[in-house]
Amino acid sequence: MSDLSTEPNHDRSLTRRTFLGMSLAGGAALLAGNPVGATFASTMTMAENAAFKLGGSLPVNRLGFGAMRITGDGVWGWPADRPNALKVLRRAVELGVNLIDTADAYGPDTSELLIAEALHPYPTGLVIATKGGLTRPGPGSWKPNGQPDYLKKCVEDSLKRLKLERIELYQLHRIDPKVPMEDSLGAIKEMQDAGKIRHVGLSEVSPEQIAQARKVVPIVSVQNRYNVLDREWEKTLAYCEKEQIGFMPWSPIGGGGGLKSSDTLQAVAKAHQTSVYQVALAWLLQRSSVMLPIPGTSSVAHLEENVAAAKLKLTPEEWKSLDRKS
Ligand SMILES: NC(=O)c1ccc[n+]([C@@H]2O[C@H](COP(=O)([O-])OP(=O)(O)OC[C@H]3O[C@@H](n4cnc5c(N)ncnc54)[C@H](OP(=O)(O)O)[C@@H]3O)[C@@H](O)[C@H]2O)c1
Repeated sequence: MSDLSTEPNHDRSLTRRTFLGMSLAGGAALLAGNPVGATFASTMTMAENAAFKLGGSLPVNRLGFGAMRITGDGVWGWPADRPNALKVLRRAVELGVNLIDTADAYGPDTSELLIAEALHPYPTGLVIATKGGLTRPGPGSWKPNGQPDYLKKCVEDSLKRLKLERIELYQLHRIDPKVPMEDSLGAIKEMQDAGKIRHVGLSEVSPEQIAQARKVVPIVSVQNRYNVLDREWEKTLAYCEKEQIGFMPWSPIGGGGGLKSSDTLQAVAKAHQTSVYQVALAWLLQRSSVMLPIPGTSSVAHLEENVAAAKLKLTPEEWKSLDRKS
């Protein structure tokens, strides 16, 4: 299986959603320290990248960063330009990003190792959300393993690579169809009870699976593929909104294949003299207050463009036109 694989056809019957019209202003500025000695790009960036509290207690600015793209081709090994990968990570923090998504499977190991190299000792308030439960037989190849002992070892190994005593958010990367979910999550709960994990999240799950998981351990976040043109997981997002669970859309700007731009996306981008990527991110942020996009990039320029999307406000008409067309 592939982490980046195309999922079955979307359920487009649920296309009417409420426009929340929420303001992006007023979020709390969270980063108290700065390991790279630079100042934040602007206080506006922080203020407009409004915060969400994971589990009701752990604040993160809603626009995060996905650290899968800083590894080698096929999410395998070290990146060709390792100093550049370190620069991207440091720039993300400078720009006010305080939610970095990673996984032991990215590289494997190299994404977590680069995060520690670039950012340890970590600034106060930086949340590194990692994952376990997908193994890597080779480049571009992914295989679930939800065996309890394996998952406990994954947590221990991520702690070492990330140089952390506790992981603030640990996500089960996939539910292993060969292992009862209760067993996999039971192991993760054991690590939580031992103080090695603060909060627990899931990935690629239905509302029913989240409800089942919550009988074992509190779930504070869900990471499913979702973007303005790809709404397969709409029901999961609705469940997360209702339950105030953070929803971290992966491939928020279309993933490795890029955003297949529509006329509407282009027209809105033109009206704001910006890119379709910024419009897609702004659309997500305005879609729901539990939305925590984690766009990934290996480029400082793209990172800066993506983070600036927190400042872009779509009008209700623009937002609705994108909602209708996609
Ligand atoms: N839970 C899961 O199963 C799962 C699966 C996949 C990913 N994830 C997580 O989600 C994060 C995001 O997903 P993703 O990386 O697949 O998709 P994405 O963020 O939607 O797209 C990343 C791709 O878009 C390009 N890009 C980024 N910013 C751009 C810009 N401003 N202009 C033009 N191109 C741009 C990147 O190339 P450049 O490097 O050239 O910028 C990269 O190829 C990952 O980093 C990872 O943390 C989770």
